[in-house]
Amino acid sequence: MSHIQLNINEVRPFLTEQPESLQKKVSEIHKVIHEKTGQGSDYLGWLDLPKTYDKEEYARVLAAAKKIRKQSQVLVVIGIGGSYLGSKAGLEFLSEPFKKGKLEIIFAGHHMSGKYLANLLEYLSNKKFSINVISKSGTTTEPAIAFRVLKRALEEKFGKEEAKERIYATTDKKRGALYTVAKQNGYEMFIIPDDVGGRYSVLTPVGLLPLSAAGINTKLMLKGAKDAMVRFSKPKLESNEAYLYAATRYLLYTSGKKIEMLVGYEPSLLYLNEWWKQLFGESEGKDHKGLFVASAGFSTDLHSLGQYIQEGERDLFETVIHVEDSGKDVLIPEESNDLDELNYLKGKPISYVNLQALKGTMMAHKDGLVPNILLTIPGFDPYTFGYMVYFFEKACAMSAYLIDVNPFNQPGVEAYKKNMFALLGKKGYEHILK
Ligand code: PA5
Repeated sequence: MSHIQLNINEVRPFLTEQPESLQKKVSEIHKVIHEKTGQGSDYLGWLDLPKTYDKEEYARVLAAAKKIRKQSQVLVVIGIGGSYLGSKAGLEFLSEPFKKGKLEIIFAGHHMSGKYLANLLEYLSNKKFSINVISKSGTTTEPAIAFRVLKRALEEKFGKEEAKERIYATTDKKRGALYTVAKQNGYEMFIIPDDVGGRYSVLTPVGLLPLSAAGINTKLMLKGAKDAMVRFSKPKLESNEAYLYAATRYLLYTSGKKIEMLVGYEPSLLYLNEWWKQLFGESEGKDHKGLFVASAGFSTDLHSLGQYIQEGERDLFETVIHVEDSGKDVLIPEESNDLDELNYLKGKPISYVNLQALKGTMMAHKDGLVPNILLTIPGFDPYTFGYMVYFFEKACAMSAYLIDVNPFNQPGVEAYKKNMFALLGKKGYEHILK
């Protein structure tokens, strides 16, 4: 049985063709994925990663995580896109709100706000900190600038020699500016395998080091991913929920639903949404094709986007994540005067109210012609996180191949960079402004 339950019953009435009718196509693509013969097949390393990951390097990751916890109060994780979203999603998914761990994890280099960086420098001025700088290409501008600034702050605080002991670089095994800087300065290095692209890299040291440093049991995460790998290794839609999800969203897309919203009813899911948007948006959105992926946190956004979802353009569908057991809970107390008229809920856990909100919203949205895919996960634990990461990765590869695009490149990301470099006066880009 799958650890993630997928329910598409609410979607079926919206479809003229059912996902099962795509079995032949899905089986063909499955072969293309596993035999590595499709577009971008050099980047399929994530497929077997939960089994084939470098065990020695993982032992080094765990040792470095321990060292970071010992040497620092704060770990600054520098990276953008696939080099930070997975670990941020994992941290949010697996941490208890308001509970401060022994080591604080702060992200930087995921935008170019001077205000943010200035405040971060101020915050770090009286703290012991370490840096994990992450960039597969080693040349991305946002993390490179943040690293230059934070490295300087670290060196001024601890001196060059001790700073070296506090910098961990996660990058390519032989290329890129970050590789060169790390090699020359003797920083401890972790490798992002050649055949694993940024948005598929959370189960490499990209995600494993920050998450292990935060005290998360990444062994369990890898175990979850490995079990998902086995579960989703066969093409049959009846037992491969990742493919059934991909086939369902494909049919919704081809029937005119151009927007998919991932929605959850727990704040701990908000960054999972961000990771998911990057995974699917960057993998599918090319050649003028692909679902536009959006997200919402309910019931919060039922008081903002809810109106649009219920009655706006009818070109969207939702994928709803339901967490069966969110862990801690609160019972609604009884009040003798019942002025707020809530005594009908006395003694009920808030999770019960949340579940009725989910059910009621799904009913309303279905009535409003917004189909709902339902994904149920058991709880907020590392095993489930790893399992879910692999589920979405496999579904994403199938989804992109179904619309015949390369799931593993991102040529469109270059457009803004070229213009920005030209405007900044970088050598070699002058022609763009002429
Ligand atoms: O998925 C991807 O490949 C991208 O989103 C990258 O992760 C992102 O652009 C950052 O690239 P890099 O790790 O090379 O700095």
